Amino acid sequence: MKKIVLAAAAAFTLTSTAALAAEAGPELLKRQWTFDGATGKFDKLQLQRGLQVYREVCASCHSLKYVAFRNLTALGYSEDQVKALAAEYEFKAIDEEGSDVTRKGTPADHFPNPYPNDNFARASNNGALPPDLSLMTKARVGGPNYVYSLMQGYEDPPPGTELLAGMNYNKYFPGHQIGMPKQISDDQVTYADGTKASAEQISADISAFLHWAAEPKLEARHATGFRVMIYVLIFTILAYLLKRKIWARLEKK
Ligand code: HEC
Repeated sequence: MKKIVLAAAAAFTLTSTAALAAEAGPELLKRQWTFDGATGKFDKLQLQRGLQVYREVCASCHSLKYVAFRNLTALGYSEDQVKALAAEYEFKAIDEEGSDVTRKGTPADHFPNPYPNDNFARASNNGALPPDLSLMTKARVGGPNYVYSLMQGYEDPPPGTELLAGMNYNKYFPGHQIGMPKQISDDQVTYADGTKASAEQISADISAFLHWAAEPKLEARHATGFRVMIYVLIFTILAYLLKRKIWARLEKK
């Protein structure tokens, strides 16, 4: 009986993982990220390159509404640099006379939405809505590896696959038909820091940047985790020594 149950359980796990794998497509490309592991940290230069990719490539379709310009000091920019960057953007405002005007962005502003609303965004993208990217790496299984793979997952559809109008084939996108055209290719951007802009590098940089956007407190969290571990360790040693002391008295009797 036990054997039958075990066999059934094994068969179930096998078929369900196989079904899941078939649905999710091939395994994601994986990378060693500097922020992996318990002591991982963001590479600020990489984040700066990722910001450049966001601004030059993604920002025409995707908002990044939870990131304020002042947050960019975490990437190693000075307050003056952040001020200058914010001032490159324009925001709608109403002046003292009640008229509509535009004003320059300030560090307190957030990245603006490229579209006035969702309907407009859909109408501009064949019906597909480009989602906000602020929390994207948290919202998808695989996180930064998913974005990294998605950027590099465009290919010709396998023979016999019919693409719906306006759709593109991407092997990592669930269902494989995605409304977003291919965005990244070699030398798509010219990096300010001179890094060679291969498609792989650009994909890695934008993914790292989006992971920072989704988890700006990652380093602080890692540091706290480390302190807690030290505390628990010291506490365990003390508890052990105390136990030895108490039992030593009992054993002597
Ligand atoms: C021309 C407009 C356009 C540009 C530019 C663009 N995207 Fe998209 N993106 C879209 C659309 C439209 C969708 C929704 C696709 C769908 O649901 O079929 C999307 C979806 C996504 C998704 C979500 C996929 C999912 O799993 O739901 C991610 C992640 C993404 N884009 C990242 C990026 C990044 C990173 C860049 C810049 C390198 C970028 N996009 C540039 C239009 C764009």
